[in-house]
Amino acid sequence: MKTMRWFAALPLLWLAGQAWAVNPGQVVDNFRLLDQNGKSHELYYSSDMKAIVLMVHGNGCPIVRQAVPALREIREKYQGQGVEFLLLNSNLQDKRDDVAAEAKEFNVDFPILLDQSQLIGEQLGVVRTSEVFVIDPKGWKLVYRGPMDDRLSYEKQRPASKHYLTDALDATLAGKPVKVSKADGVGCLVNFPERERRTTHAQISYSKQIAPLLIDKCTACHQTGGVGPWAMTKYDVVKGFAPMIREVVRTQRMPPWHADPHYGEWQNKRGLTDDQRKLLVHWIEAGAPRGTGPDPLLGVKPDTNEWKHGKPDLVVEVPAYDIPATGVIEYQYPKVKNPLGRDVWITAVEIHPGAKQAIHHIIAQDPVVLNGQQRGGGSGGGNLAGFAPGMSPVVYPADTGVLFPKDADFVFQMHYTPNGQAVTDHSKVAFYFREADNPPKYPLHLTALVDFRFQIPPGAKEYGTTVSRDITRDMLVYNFMPHSHLRGKSGTMRVVYPDGKEEILLNVPKYDFNWQTVYEYKEPKKIPAGSKLVWNFNWDNSTQNPGNPDPTKAVKWGDQTFEEMGIGFVRFRYLDEEVGKPAPAQVTKTASNN
Ligand code: HEC
Repeated sequence: MKTMRWFAALPLLWLAGQAWAVNPGQVVDNFRLLDQNGKSHELYYSSDMKAIVLMVHGNGCPIVRQAVPALREIREKYQGQGVEFLLLNSNLQDKRDDVAAEAKEFNVDFPILLDQSQLIGEQLGVVRTSEVFVIDPKGWKLVYRGPMDDRLSYEKQRPASKHYLTDALDATLAGKPVKVSKADGVGCLVNFPERERRTTHAQISYSKQIAPLLIDKCTACHQTGGVGPWAMTKYDVVKGFAPMIREVVRTQRMPPWHADPHYGEWQNKRGLTDDQRKLLVHWIEAGAPRGTGPDPLLGVKPDTNEWKHGKPDLVVEVPAYDIPATGVIEYQYPKVKNPLGRDVWITAVEIHPGAKQAIHHIIAQDPVVLNGQQRGGGSGGGNLAGFAPGMSPVVYPADTGVLFPKDADFVFQMHYTPNGQAVTDHSKVAFYFREADNPPKYPLHLTALVDFRFQIPPGAKEYGTTVSRDITRDMLVYNFMPHSHLRGKSGTMRVVYPDGKEEILLNVPKYDFNWQTVYEYKEPKKIPAGSKLVWNFNWDNSTQNPGNPDPTKAVKWGDQTFEEMGIGFVRFRYLDEEVGKPAPAQVTKTASNN
């Protein structure tokens, strides 16, 4: 009751009919946001749903706190009928930890999508919290916006006479038009500072702001001869792609970067900040004006260096392989005699695929010799470096390296994926090394957290496994690399410290098979002996996963892309190990599997 007086003082109406808003009948563009727990939600993923309900959330807002139980009741009523319920928080002041804490305190068991850039709330024309948006996935049209019902508050003693939300849902589920598609209600105001500045967005300078941002974040790939499908060569091209750029920025598809920014500082981070996202989208929404000043994109010189990491110390040619036009090819493990005749320490590897279109990946295997026999084939083996589309040269951290003994040969794992045209592959691998009399200070190791025994049920939208590893020696972790195939969905690496405290080290909420990203720490992370690393990985074997080769199949571990993996690779060194100094304890295998 103590909030009643405050309610009475609230202005009751939402500002209706804004210029910058989606009205019933209009399309809600796709977007992707993380929720308070770091899970990814993309609107258009839910195309199998019959309706999507999005309620505007805000921390500290009593109306939201009262609306949540009412929304929960409605969710219960529509259980099993294909209605998805989400909350959207566009409050500038609400940080994720605070939202998660309040959600816990008030038992908010809905995903709260965090719209820190405010781009989604801006497009929807959000004004106050507790407004609900009902979206019909058939055509992605908004069918209702307004309060859940006509109560001024959601206190039980004031029964509602109009049930806007359930009426809208009943109509939508029945495939009928929604009678009342808009209504006014109460809520706490959400501050959208850019709304007032909207008219100034046309003054965002292409020359001084936009093009430099594109050069910083995009043209490494989107240049002539680059891996991006189109080259950002000049303003006209960018203007032409502007709606598409808006889409890939809103869905966070570009730049390709799949780690949750909430955890870890990564030196190779490719994502945009919220401010950069806003700048790009606001400029595009203002018509992507050219403005004045020179076009910096004209000055972008394509990178024509054959080897991005510089002149190699050794280039190894992978034996030529005839890839047929069709069929499934088992992994190949070609071996090349080591021409060096001396021990060296590998410090970097750059892999150049030959028949790019028909290569899924290449791995330069590690030189571990077991029982006098070099480890050759087999999955899960250690590797020096891998290549998959989108990967850069693999450069080991300063002062580290991997010993490549003179009696080891170069072994590669080649995964060819025929793509309709018979081609011959001539791949090349460049090695960069230090001589044995000038070794790096620390030997580098790789380990893999991996479950081989999972079985993903057909159609499962999310199915996961968790594996853990006891850490018996202090280690310094340099990077993580999740590896999975087309059904890979998300992965999390956690550490449980000896005192029981837990920390999330890496969260990849939307794994993308096309980008085998290595997440490189800015500052390597110390994991003390007695800790446990815990790797959780999830797959999406449903029809909603556009990459899924066959949602009707139960899927197990396997090398081929239609089979699955869900590995968490960890590259590290032992804190008490140095090259040339006797190891104080037994050295665990450089790569080991559960
Ligand atoms: C690391 C390389 C890389 C970077 C950096 C990168 N892109 Fe891309 N981009 C690609 C690749 C490869 C594709 C095609 C495959 C895909 O969509 O994942 C693509 C696709 C796109 C598309 C979609 C084309 C279509 O029709 O599907 C757009 C638009 C785009 N990028 C814009 C951008 C923008 C804007 C940036 C910078 C903010 C950026 N990209 C940064 C590699 C990159």
